[in-house]
Amino acid sequence: MIYVDNNATTRLADEVAQAMADAFAVGYLNPSSQHQLGQKARRRLDDARETILSILGGEITKFLGDRLVFTSGGTEANNLALFGLGHETAGQVIISAIEHPSISEAADRLRAFGTAVRVLPVNSEGVVQYDQLDDWLTEPTRLVSVMLANNETGVIQPIEEIAAICRDRKVPLHVDAVQAVGKIPLDFSLLDISAMTISPHKFHGPRGIGALMLDDQVKLNPMMFGGSQQLTMRPGTESVELAIGFERSLQLAIETLPEAGPRMETLRDHLEASLLQELGDERMTINRGMIERLPHTSNVAFPGIDRQALVMALDMVGVACSTGSACASGSSERSPTLIAMGLKEEVISSSIRLSLSRTTTEEEIDEVAKRISNCVKRLRRP
Ligand SMILES: Cc1ncc(COP(=O)(O)O)c(C=O)c1O
Repeated sequence: MIYVDNNATTRLADEVAQAMADAFAVGYLNPSSQHQLGQKARRRLDDARETILSILGGEITKFLGDRLVFTSGGTEANNLALFGLGHETAGQVIISAIEHPSISEAADRLRAFGTAVRVLPVNSEGVVQYDQLDDWLTEPTRLVSVMLANNETGVIQPIEEIAAICRDRKVPLHVDAVQAVGKIPLDFSLLDISAMTISPHKFHGPRGIGALMLDDQVKLNPMMFGGSQQLTMRPGTESVELAIGFERSLQLAIETLPEAGPRMETLRDHLEASLLQELGDERMTINRGMIERLPHTSNVAFPGIDRQALVMALDMVGVACSTGSACASGSSERSPTLIAMGLKEEVISSSIRLSLSRTTTEEEIDEVAKRISNCVKRLRRP
């Protein structure tokens, strides 16, 4: 099977598996225990936090638990941001039209509880339009949340510009950076945002852990209760083993990025070019404009072909890809991102997502292009 669904999840790197196996072998790692073993676990957890914060440009303070809150993954961190941030101010919440369901559906819940939610539109290239934001922020606003890069198209969003507006209006900005971390260089302090979501299983780290990174100005209200861990902001015994896997996978992602980023981009462009050459531009379109994308993501439409049928046909010939967000897979729901971009129905209903990783090879990409072209031609036959 050739795996081109790395935006859904990636393979755990061997070095990360080894680091976690070593940690699991210690046997007793509860950072809240008072004995020496517990103190050792606490130091190791704090070390992992400090490394993650310093790699991503976070604030290193005395209470690191205040600045990097470990969660069970990106979904929990996004929910924690939407429900827990900015509670000192009552008021509306603003998101974009292309957020992951862990933001958009959390916003639906807020709406159901009576919070006004406004949605920034995107243009046909999938870029968030923020012209109205300054105006909207004249009304009391608790939080703005906009993703750094879209999980379906890979399109990189104008976060610096949005952050400048939020800063002027003194409204916290949360950024879902799940797909961007480890794929493009990024620095939390340079972005000057209030909070950021990270999920290491997208960069060859473990599933089951994520984090919400916070600046020193914001206060987080907990969503769960019943423990003093993580300064009560996210109670529950922390997994030192998973935190070590998180730390190691981030170190590796950043170390390999200068070589892997351009290589993935070349392979992705090669894949799109091969498909275009094989099928012609009347049989396929790439869902992007002339804008900046993550280097490893491609969203391609084959008008006239049903996307579910294509993904299934590709699975049968040994290519694992998806129709969009893994959280919506298994359902035939149309992509909210492509709908928000105002694309034609024939494009929306025929689009698939191909996402590479730093381990994807040229041979695999040549083979994927061949298998997709064959499947598309076969499915087109009357
Ligand atoms: C942009 C984005 N945000 C959040 C998530 C959720 O992350 P997790 O799978 O760690 O819950 C995903 C997962 O696909 C994502 O792509």
